[in-house]
Amino acid sequence: MKPSSVVIREVMLRDGLQNIPDFIPTEAKIELFRLIVASGIRSMEITSFVSPKAIPQFQDAAKMAQAVLKMKPEGVEVSALIPNLKGAQLAVESGMRKVGFVMSVSESHNINNVRRTTAESIDELKKILELKEKYSDLIVKAGMATVFGCPFEGKIKPEVTLNFIRQFYKLGIRDMSMADTVGFGNPNEVKEMCRLCATEFPDVTFSIHLHNTRGLGLANSLAAYEAGIRVHDGAVGGLGGCPFAPGAKGNTSTEDLVFMFEEMGVSTGVNMDALLEASRYFQKVKKDVRYSSSIIEVGIPVPKGAITKDGSEQKWNL
Ligand code: COA
Ligand code: ZN
Repeated sequence: MKPSSVVIREVMLRDGLQNIPDFIPTEAKIELFRLIVASGIRSMEITSFVSPKAIPQFQDAAKMAQAVLKMKPEGVEVSALIPNLKGAQLAVESGMRKVGFVMSVSESHNINNVRRTTAESIDELKKILELKEKYSDLIVKAGMATVFGCPFEGKIKPEVTLNFIRQFYKLGIRDMSMADTVGFGNPNEVKEMCRLCATEFPDVTFSIHLHNTRGLGLANSLAAYEAGIRVHDGAVGGLGGCPFAPGAKGNTSTEDLVFMFEEMGVSTGVNMDALLEASRYFQKVKKDVRYSSSIIEVGIPVPKGAITKDGSEQKWNL
């Protein structure tokens, strides 16, 4: 069988932190970046260029971008979330060359999240793409929130998302992300959506961003993988959630994603021991952090010897 691999995109520094009201010092964020990269992660969303009034956690976005770009090893891709033209301008001025524009495919969540109708967001995106005239190496990814369900409108039909994808495609975008922002999707729906995308847009790189609100994060990632998706978002410790989506919980834990894929023989390039350093470090920075990750909780399976009657350990050689 052909060896396969996936890219795990780490979003802890953006999605993972955006729901944490206490400001995490920039130095700690930079150390997290260093630890996560040292584990083998090759793609990371490092911050969000949003209004500091909306999310004070990212008031240091420019500082963070500049620091990370200075220390980033060759081959590591970093990106930042942007909700509007202002965010895009601030990102490129800080040196970022990959930005993830975010909009929701449901009207109500888009208004709640970025205070725009979806039509207004598309107009904003067109203006952002004009920045490419000055910054020719700028890559704009289109991130779609609430693809599998919206906290205000419920389930969203695939055709709604496909219509947005068609618009992005016409604008020349070839890198797109689909998010289950609140955890509405099930594996059948995720597989079907990804299959529709792959069939209609074979030259687009789609990634999947799943929240584990109701415990289906891993199952949905696997469904996406089976439909050909090779870029999967995860957050250290299963942290995350949108502050403007009631009921949103954490992302699928990166540790659990890495474990699942590696156990299946799908290479992630990530060293689990090194990855676990990141969650240990963050626990020291934010002592009351609550993770949602099976691997952090119980570790990878290591066969232990059985304790015999005399109290010694019996090793098994199967
Ligand atoms: N970065 C920094 N500041 C920004 C900004 C950005 N991307 N966009 C707007 N601002 C500032 C403006 O300069 C203005 O500041 P002022 O009050 O000091 O003059 C203020 O924010 C309001 O600007 P306006 O254009 O009216 O924006 P808005 O009030 O309509 O807010 C968003 C729209 C999108 C900027 C804001 O709702 C936001 O940042 N939301 C965050 C969404 C998010 O990150 N969700 C979670 C991820 S999915
Ligand atoms: Zn998210």
